[in-house]
Amino acid sequence: MAETVLITGGAGFIGRHVAQALLQRGYHVRVLDSFIEQVHGGRTSADGLDPQVEIIVGDVRDEMGLSRALKGADHVIHLAAEVGVGQSMYAVDRYVSVNDYGTAVLFQQLIEQPVRRVVVASSMSIYGEGLYRTVDGELVEDAIRAPRRSENGSWDPVDAQGRPLVPIPTPESKRPTLASVYALTKYVQERLTLTLAPAYGMEGVALRLWNVYGPGQALSNPYTGVLAIFASRLHNGKPPMIFEDGQQRRDFVHVEDVAEAFALALEHPRAPGQVYNIGSGEHRSVEEVATLLAAAMNCSELKPEVTGKMRAGDIRHCIPDIAKARSELGFSPRRDFSDGLAELAEWVAQQEAKDRVSEARKELEMRGLVA
Ligand SMILES: NC(=O)c1ccc[n+]([C@@H]2O[C@H](COP(=O)([O-])OP(=O)(O)OC[C@H]3O[C@@H](n4cnc5c(N)ncnc54)[C@H](O)[C@@H]3O)[C@@H](O)[C@H]2O)c1
Repeated sequence: MAETVLITGGAGFIGRHVAQALLQRGYHVRVLDSFIEQVHGGRTSADGLDPQVEIIVGDVRDEMGLSRALKGADHVIHLAAEVGVGQSMYAVDRYVSVNDYGTAVLFQQLIEQPVRRVVVASSMSIYGEGLYRTVDGELVEDAIRAPRRSENGSWDPVDAQGRPLVPIPTPESKRPTLASVYALTKYVQERLTLTLAPAYGMEGVALRLWNVYGPGQALSNPYTGVLAIFASRLHNGKPPMIFEDGQQRRDFVHVEDVAEAFALALEHPRAPGQVYNIGSGEHRSVEEVATLLAAAMNCSELKPEVTGKMRAGDIRHCIPDIAKARSELGFSPRRDFSDGLAELAEWVAQQEAKDRVSEARKELEMRGLVA
């Protein structure tokens, strides 16, 4: 008989792709999702979820619903979360409640109904600033962003002599620096999984995901997914708005590669007890990505608007070292970035997307979280 995987938050962007990858591998897939307004805009059925997926509408914080969802489950992939760095800095109770209390309730139920393996979605955000080196080649693990000293000052963290530090790939061994409420809650999710799973005879794995992109991103959610936010602006004939100077570097990984990583984390005998960075292995500046997306969407005339403002909790550079996932899990990101952007552009062209970016920015400004 097919094994059953429960995916919490499985109706969301990543969850739908993970569900598809697992169906293809012969699993029975069950999803528990509360279809939050910010992501699903009031719908309680997920476009893009395969009809073979069993859907339970419910909140991870509701123990009765969770207990029902766990009946007969062999594994859990825990994705349910509030997802947005900027928003987490003022919707503190909501983020801590869903992400941390939600994970606590999940494990409380797992004590009664254990499964074989639990894979949790952690995040690059737990690192805070990524790993850097000085221009002299010395490693800097605990770079901190000081406020800019002048209008022309560097956005980059600097060394003791005031010289900008150079970002280098961040391995899993880098100490976490939790710079936002979101990061803090993701770290708690990760640690609860890696602490409690083995204590109750289960296997726990955490994937630290970088910037995931691809068709199916929540275009009208202005709080998360930088590419979706840019796409939604461009789709509405407006230029993408970029914080700072646009030179902050990230790794954009296609959602199909991420779905494959979850399947590997679920099945690989070396994975239990481990954390893995999941990215594409390539990094780009945010401005470059906005420009490439505008070209893919045939609106290159909409040049990115560089705001020169910084959001509280944002980090400057963080790029992954994915060697561990490659060597231990056989993870091998396949999707080419320009093909991925073309595919995203094609998908966006068929969508309706409300541009709520200015609203989201006002929310932050009102609270002094953009400076
Ligand atoms: N997208 C990224 O770039 C990225 C990067 C790092 C980590 N992650 C993590 O991956 C996971 C999935 O992210 P995503 O991009 O698919 O986000 P998403 O917002 O599209 O999906 C999250 C899903 O969780 C559901 N949900 C929220 N609160 C819930 C609750 N209380 N009970 C049940 N369901 C609830 C939402 O309805 C949604 O369907 C999250 O844990 C996120 O923190 C995402």
